[in-house]
Amino acid sequence: MKNIKLDYSNVMDFITEEDIEQEKKKYLEARKKVVEKSGEGSDYLGWLDLPKRITDDEIDDILETAAHIREDSDVFISVGIGGSYLGARAAIEALSPNFYNMSMKPQIYFAGNSISPRYLKDLKSVIDGKKVTINIISKSGTTTEPALAFRMIREWMIENYGQKDVFKRIVATTDSSKGALRQLADEEGIKTFVIPDDVGGRFSVLTPVGLLPIAVAGIDIRKMLEGAADGMKEFRDEEDIAKNPSSMYAILRNILYEKGKRIEMLSNFEPQLHYISEWWKQLFGESEGKDNKGLHPTSCDFTTDLHSMGQWIQDGCRNIIETFLNVEDPESTIVIGMEKRNLDHLNYLAGKTFRYVNEQAFLGTRAAHRDGEVPNMTITIPSISPYYIGNLFYFFEWAVAVSGYMLGVNPFNQPGVESYKKNMFALLGKPGFEEQSREIREKLSGQKKFISAGSPGKAEVGAG
Ligand code: PA5
Repeated sequence: MKNIKLDYSNVMDFITEEDIEQEKKKYLEARKKVVEKSGEGSDYLGWLDLPKRITDDEIDDILETAAHIREDSDVFISVGIGGSYLGARAAIEALSPNFYNMSMKPQIYFAGNSISPRYLKDLKSVIDGKKVTINIISKSGTTTEPALAFRMIREWMIENYGQKDVFKRIVATTDSSKGALRQLADEEGIKTFVIPDDVGGRFSVLTPVGLLPIAVAGIDIRKMLEGAADGMKEFRDEEDIAKNPSSMYAILRNILYEKGKRIEMLSNFEPQLHYISEWWKQLFGESEGKDNKGLHPTSCDFTTDLHSMGQWIQDGCRNIIETFLNVEDPESTIVIGMEKRNLDHLNYLAGKTFRYVNEQAFLGTRAAHRDGEVPNMTITIPSISPYYIGNLFYFFEWAVAVSGYMLGVNPFNQPGVESYKKNMFALLGKPGFEEQSREIREKLSGQKKFISAGSPGKAEVGAG
């Protein structure tokens, strides 16, 4: 069986073996905090043994519910945001065909991950006349974005299926005992799954938060859990960094941060990995971006973004490191044909596979970025399969926990996320926010430094 590999050759021109030796001390302390659950935020370490803790009965319940949804629905909508959204989307997009909604039953859509009226209007027109089941996923039950989308879709369902039947077409994934969603589910007899108390949103993909939507997409969740369970042995239980690519990754990114790097870009050459990067950005951004510290996680899909961001990466401010997410055995069946006129001068590639060309693009890009003084690492997964996606989830979860403690932050809280919410609630006039409402309106109406074409302007606050 092949394992995830980390190639860090292109980092070693920027750091020394001694740097690694030095950083190892911090790593061992951080590792201890995680495995002994002795660091800040250790109440949220439930994800550490999730792949083993989940019982056969729980998996069977998820699989039976998913089978029923697949049988009984044309459309499945997963409603959630942040940690209650990104893991499922990452796995579904990675492991399904690129245009899955053209061929899959049920079609899968996501909602509650923005407040865009246009998005909801378009969603309504897509589901019109179809049999819809929704999975509302929210630990708190009161997060504005999913709660608003849930309201709208529920109204639509009541109009279409009647008050009596609507709750049979809803599954709620939420807290075991508290919150608005739990109350609604208990009152209306909605089928529920529980988000464990000791697992934070961004670490919840291997709970029903991720597993139910992933199973509805027909993906083998047992294999995914198997990959994650092997990750426990390979990354959590292996202290020796020479045998642990996840811990080594955490160490190297911390050394580079200490040497002044401020941005880490996760780059892939497979568009279906786009949402793995989105999930990774939340995992690292929310875990490390605090106390004025942390590498800024960003991502690129190549070769697409080489034609937009390539210039900056190659030549811009040198405060960036790059982590390539490479696939050893991607789809390789399409062969490039010969063309009589050869107007595009591509006949030299005739007979070669697209996979071969993509691979040379990767190797060429990696070398070019290294020459452009961008230290880079490559994480190689053997293939895009449920097993390796599960393994990769655990790889990054372990890495961020250790990395966060090495950085000197609590990797398991997210205090900064509340600030925009407070302002938004104040502007919306939420009861209890009267004082903040006055303050923010005064603050915003004092913002006079803007212009529109032809004339200076004055901000209008809260135009409804
Ligand atoms: O990581 C987190 O804690 C957040 O991204 C939450 O998951 C997100 O805000 C959704 O919260 P909830 O599940 O309570 O609706």
